[in-house]
Amino acid sequence: MALYGVLGDIHGNREALEAAIACLDARGVDRIVCVGDLVGYNADGDACVALLRGRGAISIAGNHDLIGTGKLGFERCSNKAMHSLKRTRRTLGNTTVEYLRALPSHHRLEPAVLLTHGGVRDVQQYMTSEAHIRQNAEFLRADFPGARLCLFGHSHEQKIYEVDGQDVREVPQVDRNLLNRNLVYFINPGSVDASRKRADKFAECMLLDTLDWSVEFLRVRYDCAATEAKAAVFGYRIGPWTDRLYSVRRRLAVKLAPKRREASLDK
Ligand SMILES: [Fe+2]
Ligand SMILES: [Fe+2]
Repeated sequence: MALYGVLGDIHGNREALEAAIACLDARGVDRIVCVGDLVGYNADGDACVALLRGRGAISIAGNHDLIGTGKLGFERCSNKAMHSLKRTRRTLGNTTVEYLRALPSHHRLEPAVLLTHGGVRDVQQYMTSEAHIRQNAEFLRADFPGARLCLFGHSHEQKIYEVDGQDVREVPQVDRNLLNRNLVYFINPGSVDASRKRADKFAECMLLDTLDWSVEFLRVRYDCAATEAKAAVFGYRIGPWTDRLYSVRRRLAVKLAPKRREASLDK
C-alpha cells in the first residue's frame, strides 16, 4: 500500500512532465506510475524517458511507444499521429528505443490494481463509453482475476467509471474520490501532454492512495508555448498540404489493395 503519482500520455512533452512530477513530489508520492505513451507528438521523447527512468517510475507500453519503435504499424493512426511518429522513429536514441521495446503491455501494481494503456485486450481501443467499460470489465475478470482497479490511458481524459455487476456509471469528480472496496473501477489520470487539447493547456495527473482507496485528480500549468515551438521547429507538426497528401495516399492504398490482391493471385 502506498501513495502513487499516476500519469500517462506524456508524448514527449518535457515541460508538462516536469510540471506534473514537481506537483506529485510536492504531495509526497512514494512512486511514480505511467500508463504509457511516453513518446510521440512532441520533440522531447528521449528526455521524458530518461526523466521517468531516473525516477524509477513503473511504466507500461502505449500504442505510441510501440509504433514509435516499429513494433506496431501506422494503420490505426490519424494523419497527425502518423506524421509525428515518423519523426519520432527517426530521432529516438538507441537507449530509449531499447527501453520502450521492453516495456510490458500490463503491470500489476498491487494484487488489486492493474495498469493498461487502452482496452484490456487492445492497446489501441479508446475506452470512452459505459459500453466499452462493461466489455472491458469482463476482460479484466477473465484475464486478471482479483484486479478491481484498472488504471488506463489513451483517451486523454480524466475519468472514473464504477462497475457494479452489469451496471456501469461515470462517477462525478470531487476534490478527493473515495472508492468502494467492493466494486470495480476503471480510472484514467488524464494526459500529461495537453498539446492535443483545444482549450486549457494543463498537465494532468492523479494521486492514488491504496491505503484508504482514494483518488485525487491534479491539473498543472506548464510552458506550453515552449513545447509547441520545439515541436514546430523539429518537424512534429503537420501542415495542411501534408495532411491532404497523407489522406490521398490512404484512399489510393484502399482502392489499389483489391487489385494488388488479384494480381498476386494470378501469379
Ligand atoms: Fe496518448
Ligand atoms: Fe495511446
